[in-house]
Amino acid sequence: MEDGNESPHGSTSEPEEDRCSEEDFGPSKLGTKEYWEDAYEKELETFKDIGDVGEIWFGEESMSRVLRWMDKAKIAENAAILDIGTGNAVFLVELAKHGYKNLMGIDYSAASVELARNVLLAEDLMDVTVKEMDFLNGQGELKGFDVCIDKGTFDAISLNPDNAKEGKRLYVEALKDALKDKGFFSITSCNWTKEQLLERFSEGFEFVEELPTPSFKFGGKSGNSVTALIFKRVL
Ligand SMILES: C[S@@+](CC[C@H](N)C(=O)[O-])C[C@H]1O[C@@H](n2cnc3c(N)ncnc32)[C@H](O)[C@@H]1O
Repeated sequence: MEDGNESPHGSTSEPEEDRCSEEDFGPSKLGTKEYWEDAYEKELETFKDIGDVGEIWFGEESMSRVLRWMDKAKIAENAAILDIGTGNAVFLVELAKHGYKNLMGIDYSAASVELARNVLLAEDLMDVTVKEMDFLNGQGELKGFDVCIDKGTFDAISLNPDNAKEGKRLYVEALKDALKDKGFFSITSCNWTKEQLLERFSEGFEFVEELPTPSFKFGGKSGNSVTALIFKRVL
């Protein structure tokens, strides 16, 4: 996630432990609640005016690739699925259209939650639950999920100008609490490399697979601008 100040990935020439440090990115407005409140207030107005749902982070394909993996992994249609930092709830809409019936999204931005509810109402998806909640301070409310999905939220938390280090630690703890044993975690990130995510989600998780994302070549080296990984919770 870039706002002009960050590189999309940390350097890969550093030792692994350093690459996973809080020094990887400079602080950014994208790491603040105020930024998202403001963004979703505007998106909500636009949605009410012309029905445009706003930004689809990392594009439509970022959802299709996770849905394809869910099909392959035979995730049951009644599986409890949590979308962490749901934004405009477009991923929840896609999951519901794909047949998933036990869906919940949370976001710490009140405007996001209002936008999400409007989008779900317009799609006639009243069974999908959306809650205003800080994932880092869920107070034990989020439990028993078969699948947790993150598209850009861990990235945003990693950019918090106040305390990204603590935010990342709390994120991993909250995720451990939210997932059932052997539950799956799908993360799509543009700020973290595969190696960094493997390091971050090493304790209490098992790496399952990397989902293919478009790659680019520069200066004879190839890389991916977006990383999409699947982990499994192991107790
Ligand atoms: C890059 S946006 C992605 C939104 C959505 N997942 C998508 O793919 O369109 C990051 C989202 O994370 C939310 N967010 C950031 N920190 C959060 C936290 N601590 N708890 C809950 N939501 C958070 C923001 O409000 C924003 O909706």
